[in-house]
Amino acid sequence: MIIIGSDHTGIELKKKIISYLNEKGIAVKDVTNFKDQSGDDYPDIAYIVCCNVKKENCLGIAICGTGIGISIACNKINGIRAAVCTDKYMAKMTRQDNDANVLCLGARLNFANVFEIVDEFLNTEFAGGRHQRRLDKITKIENSQKDGVEYGDSI
Ligand code: RB5
Repeated sequence: MIIIGSDHTGIELKKKIISYLNEKGIAVKDVTNFKDQSGDDYPDIAYIVCCNVKKENCLGIAICGTGIGISIACNKINGIRAAVCTDKYMAKMTRQDNDANVLCLGARLNFANVFEIVDEFLNTEFAGGRHQRRLDKITKIENSQKDGVEYGDSI
């Protein structure tokens, strides 16, 4: 199961990606289809996509005009590691090293081949090892915000 959502700028791209993945036999849950109209705010879309990604414990795709705003919003949500990718190398590396669970795309950008980015993101496994240590540090930073204990005190 892949979760997908977009603001108003990304509706067409979202539909293309859903068709592409469905043709490959991959189930996609569009969590923003009820809002397919102008004026959707990307922080709301980010929140809906990320809550569903956490609930289903799966990967997600979040789309806005540049991918930047929605990635900023996604990364505010505990447990989410969202990455804007504009080529397949970025998509591969953010899965392999960062265990990114949300791919952010910019519908107003010119991609050579957006499907290659999606494929690379969905088909690359997290490498673990030393990368897990680094992710644990990110989680520690995240938790320090809740605990009121500054991360720097523990370095
Ligand atoms: C909406 O106009 C636009 O600001 C949004 O889609 C996104 O690109 C923000 O980063």
